[in-house]
Amino acid sequence: MAKLFHLFIVAFVVSSFVYARVWNDTGNGTIVFEEAWTIPELTTDTGTLRANLLDIHNQRLTQMDQNGIDFMVLSCASPCIQGISDPTVANAMAINANNQLAAQISNNTLRFGAFAALSMHNASEAAAELKRTVEELGFLGGLVNDYQQSGENNDTLIYYDQPDFDIFWQMVTELDVPVYFHPRTNVEPISTLLYGHAPWLLGPGQEFAVTLSNHILGLCTNGVFDRFPDLKIIVGHLGERIPSDLVRIDTQLLRQVPLGMPMLRNVSTYFHTNLYETTSGNFATTLLQFHIQEIGLDRILFSIDYPFVDIPSGATWVNGLDEVLTPEELLNLKRGAAIKLLKLND
Ligand SMILES: *[C@@H]1O[C@H](CO)[C@@H](O)[C@H](O)[C@H]1NC(C)=O
Ligand SMILES: *[C@@H]1O[C@H](CO)[C@@H](O)[C@H](O)[C@H]1NC(C)=O
Ligand SMILES: *[C@@H]1O[C@H](CO)[C@@H](O)[C@H](O)[C@H]1NC(C)=O
Ligand SMILES: *[C@@H]1O[C@H](CO)[C@@H](O)[C@H](O)[C@H]1NC(C)=O
Ligand SMILES: *[C@@H]1O[C@H](CO)[C@@H](O)[C@H](O)[C@H]1NC(C)=O
Ligand SMILES: *[C@@H]1O[C@H](CO)[C@@H](O)[C@H](O)[C@H]1NC(C)=O
Repeated sequence: MAKLFHLFIVAFVVSSFVYARVWNDTGNGTIVFEEAWTIPELTTDTGTLRANLLDIHNQRLTQMDQNGIDFMVLSCASPCIQGISDPTVANAMAINANNQLAAQISNNTLRFGAFAALSMHNASEAAAELKRTVEELGFLGGLVNDYQQSGENNDTLIYYDQPDFDIFWQMVTELDVPVYFHPRTNVEPISTLLYGHAPWLLGPGQEFAVTLSNHILGLCTNGVFDRFPDLKIIVGHLGERIPSDLVRIDTQLLRQVPLGMPMLRNVSTYFHTNLYETTSGNFATTLLQFHIQEIGLDRILFSIDYPFVDIPSGATWVNGLDEVLTPEELLNLKRGAAIKLLKLND
């Protein structure tokens, strides 16, 4: 009886998290979606950073109001579930984090949306949790923090570019939602082996882009986008450098075809059909202009990377782009492309 009652309470609490999105396209502010949030169980950060990661409705919303941000999509701060090596613990924690996020934003879905945290140890469990969060909690897609660490000694790295993940990508395309690929720090001993000689290269200056771009190029070259032509993947920080180097990547990869590389097209092409980039933490105007030439403005979307990057610096930069973009182009970068990609008006 006690157990039944407990089940009833859980069912009641969870169902009260379910909400309908009330977004409507009446504003002209920005939409941002590489924006971190966390739960106490998942953070070792301290001080202001910790407070900003845990907060939604106070300093975060105040800064959104002050800086013309209409809508923010929240996701679990790196490494989140990808840093949990035990598959059972990871899956339970993903469900816990998603339920807490849904509950916390349920009274203000006009301003906040969510990307699901996912345990990527098991592709069918990841697919099931994505489906639950999208269909029952109103989430807008998923966000993974690069590879899933696994194994008793953290010595297995799971990449999502192998055929056993097709079951997950099948679900993603059926739900028609994007998956954001966010960076993570490496496990040991990779971290020390690669960066022991220059530890300052750990993190966003070098390690993040190098590690995550391997994963993105793994998706491309292993033919994931050939098997799932409608799949939408978002990459932050102006594409983790990939769009800056497409000519060399495409021409050099052509030479690898004899190795059995299954990719049917080339990486440039996937940036017109499957991959999107955001400006998170990379407010570089001349690079943005170059990327517009390489992949087109309709593949590029504004984001900030709060609280690791401050909101005013992003807002000031994007609003200053009226010097290099037409009003229509700027509105597309600030919100139009996001409304389309996240299907906010559907
Ligand atoms: C948009 O949503 C806001 C808040 O719910 C509401 O006040 C406003 O009337 C809505 N506008 C339209 C055009 O539906
Ligand atoms: C954006 O919306 C605000 C408030 O609705 C309005 O005052 C402002 O003129 C608008 N700006 C543009 C560029 O449309
Ligand atoms: C939503 O709930 C939180 C937590 O109780 C509160 O701080 C916030 O003001 C509420 N927001 C709205 C729009 O009611
Ligand atoms: C993945 O999870 C499903 C459902 O829980 C289970 O049936 C399957 O055996 C798991 N696969 C692996 C490789 O553990
Ligand atoms: C595995 O990684 C976790 C953090 O992601 C860490 O707490 C743990 O100590 C690591 N285990 C080993 C055996 O290195
Ligand atoms: C990549 O593919 C596109 C479309 O087929 C083609 O136009 C382009 O030349 C290719 N790039 C390289 C460097 O091979």
